[in-house]
Amino acid sequence: MNRSTDLSICLFFGLAILFAGVNCEFTGWFVKSSDNKICLMVEMDIKTNITYTTKDNKTVFGEYIIPNKNTRVNDESKCTDKEDKLSVSWLEGNFSMKFEQNNGTYDLTNFVININVTKVFNNSAANQTVLIKYVDDGMLFKTQGNFSYHCNREQMLNNTSDNNTITISGVQFEAFRNSNTMIFSLAKDCDSNIKPDIVPIAVGLSLIALIIIVLIAYIVGRRRQQARGYLNIM
Ligand SMILES: *[C@@H]1O[C@H](CO)[C@@H](O)[C@H](O)[C@H]1NC(C)=O
Ligand SMILES: *[C@@H]1O[C@H](CO)[C@@H](O)[C@H](O)[C@H]1NC(C)=O
Ligand SMILES: *[C@@H]1O[C@H](CO)[C@@H](O)[C@H](O)[C@H]1NC(C)=O
Ligand SMILES: *[C@@H]1O[C@H](CO)[C@@H](O)[C@H](O)[C@H]1NC(C)=O
Ligand SMILES: *[C@@H]1O[C@H](CO)[C@@H](O)[C@H](O)[C@H]1NC(C)=O
Ligand SMILES: *[C@@H]1O[C@H](CO)[C@@H](O)[C@H](O)[C@H]1NC(C)=O
Ligand SMILES: *[C@@H]1O[C@H](CO)[C@@H](O)[C@H](O)[C@H]1NC(C)=O
Ligand SMILES: *[C@@H]1O[C@H](CO)[C@@H](O)[C@H](O)[C@H]1NC(C)=O
Ligand SMILES: *[C@@H]1O[C@H](CO)[C@@H](O)[C@H](O)[C@H]1NC(C)=O
Ligand SMILES: *[C@@H]1O[C@H](CO)[C@@H](O)[C@H](O)[C@H]1NC(C)=O
Ligand SMILES: *[C@@H]1O[C@H](CO)[C@@H](O)[C@H](O)[C@H]1NC(C)=O
Repeated sequence: MNRSTDLSICLFFGLAILFAGVNCEFTGWFVKSSDNKICLMVEMDIKTNITYTTKDNKTVFGEYIIPNKNTRVNDESKCTDKEDKLSVSWLEGNFSMKFEQNNGTYDLTNFVININVTKVFNNSAANQTVLIKYVDDGMLFKTQGNFSYHCNREQMLNNTSDNNTITISGVQFEAFRNSNTMIFSLAKDCDSNIKPDIVPIAVGLSLIALIIIVLIAYIVGRRRQQARGYLNIM
């Protein structure tokens, strides 16, 4: 090994760590409190299945995915002691999520989506909007204060009074935060007691271990080269 391959290996792992850091970046929606702290963070993929009326007056259903680009957290979002609210608008609709706090736990209690069906489905009757409302009974999302909620698998949220459904996946949220950072607190997972935070920590630690190994290899290699250099002089 010569010096330049050593250096390129170091550079490779340095960049790998940088990119790992970039991947950890938060990509969801957040709300700031009046004292400029990040009080609510929500990350999820949202799919809907809605029933609507067509131009020729038939009732059909269609699937619509809420975009996660080109959305805007609007002015109805707010954080108070009892209630945190995220309200997001985009070209074809808007949604809001309400979180309520009680006795050391909080819950996503209310999830309402408005979709301008006329903009989404080209066979839709004129000027049609659909409202999907889901009210949680505290079974699905109840989370201990100062923890985040995490669930990777799909969860379908039903409302018995209509056939409209919301399917969410890749979920992580945290309400009633009081922090300047964009890093979720330890998570309660919907399926296991394993904290998802262990995975990035493990990856980080193994990268650090690799760097130490590379550094040792580099130092040993340099010593050998120097030793050889002295031999050459002799
Ligand atoms: C559409 O169907 C409903 C009943 O299903 C009827 O009351 C209504 O008049 C129909 N509208 C048109 C424009 O045909
Ligand atoms: C969301 O959409 C509904 C229906 O189009 C509208 O009545 C409501 O004002 C919208 N809310 C926001 C915050 O834009
Ligand atoms: C609050 O939680 C504690 C412990 O979980 C429980 O003992 C207490 O009864 C609860 N209080 C209310 C008002 O729910
Ligand atoms: C829905 O979209 C249509 C077509 O772009 C528009 O004419 C209509 O005003 C919109 N409705 C609402 C409630 O925004
Ligand atoms: C309407 O949308 C469907 C797919 O969603 C597409 O296959 C079809 O060509 C569209 N029709 C028109 C008239 O744009
Ligand atoms: C759509 O409906 C809303 C009320 O439901 C009305 O204010 C608006 O003018 C309508 N837009 C069109 C393009 O018909
Ligand atoms: C179902 O939807 C209706 C109307 O949108 C709403 O009033 C009701 O609270 C919803 N129920 C549940 C359990 O989400
Ligand atoms: C969360 O942490 C803050 C500060 O560490 C503490 O004051 C608060 O009581 C904690 N909340 C819960 C529900 O444990
Ligand atoms: C909603 O309905 C689907 C299928 O009917 C079911 O698998 C799912 O568990 C339901 N979701 C909830 C939250 O009950
Ligand atoms: C839901 O869909 C089924 C068939 O897919 C239909 O029989 C039923 O009337 C629908 N319910 C509502 C509230 O629209
Ligand atoms: C959407 O809902 C209808 C019932 O309203 C159901 O028949 C259909 O399979 C659903 N589609 C998806 C992709 O879940």
